[in-house]
Amino acid sequence: MTGKSVFGYHQAMSETNLEKVYASLESPLNGKAENVWKSVEKPMVKIVSETGSTNEDLKVLAREGASPCLLIADKQNAGKGRQGRGFFSEGGLYLSAILPSPGEAAPFVTHLAAVAVRESVAYLTGEKPLIKWVNDVYLKGKKLCGILCESVQAGKERRYIAGIGVNLSVPEGGFPKEIEKIATFVRCDKERLAGEIAKRLFYSIANFNKEELVRSYSRASYLKRGDEITVIKPSGEKQAKVLSLTNDLALKVFYENGETEDLIAGEVHLRLR
Ligand code: BTN
Repeated sequence: MTGKSVFGYHQAMSETNLEKVYASLESPLNGKAENVWKSVEKPMVKIVSETGSTNEDLKVLAREGASPCLLIADKQNAGKGRQGRGFFSEGGLYLSAILPSPGEAAPFVTHLAAVAVRESVAYLTGEKPLIKWVNDVYLKGKKLCGILCESVQAGKERRYIAGIGVNLSVPEGGFPKEIEKIATFVRCDKERLAGEIAKRLFYSIANFNKEELVRSYSRASYLKRGDEITVIKPSGEKQAKVLSLTNDLALKVFYENGETEDLIAGEVHLRLR
């Protein structure tokens, strides 16, 4: 498919892969013939072989008023993780989306993206990944996917970008030292996975149902009551135990001094002890 989009003319070279993404976007959700795209506009898609960060690229476009769209890179040279960290970006799916206006789903975009990844991987591979609060997807105790949701101001509107990185192979020579013990991958068709994730994410934003999200997110939680964790904030580290997920998908924890706290995503990072 070639045609004018927010990205200009698609290159013929990427055509087959591009068509696979569109085919996956258009295929029924969970085998149900329901038309996902009746409630939300189907995004335009662009695939590039290499970029700095797909999130950064889409933030520029979002500020300029671009419509919801997907950008997929084979490789990122400056992949971004949460809290200013880098994100190793070779041999996987690096997908960012300018999202449809989320309305009341805005505080839950990261959670919705995590559920979309988990369900897409499960649907395509039969594996059963879990979600490590708040933005990581784990498979068999190791990190399979990281999610970074950001927002920018475009005129009077706030625009949301979801960035998703899924490891689909082990690079030649293995994962970098810093992540080799904690990273894993799943074998999966990259373009189909991108389409499945985006389809679920766009659908769940357009048809936001908080109770359903809390149910599916909690069911998939990697962290269980009683798990011992280190809560890492800019102000320092504290030892805690996991209590539960709240109805707003904050993580309720119990500190050694007897206090409890409902952690909200923001600046918090967790390490399992
Ligand atoms: C994390 O694990 O801390 C979040 C990682 C998010 C990585 C994805 S890959 C696609 C998008 N582009 C980026 O630069 N980051 C996100």
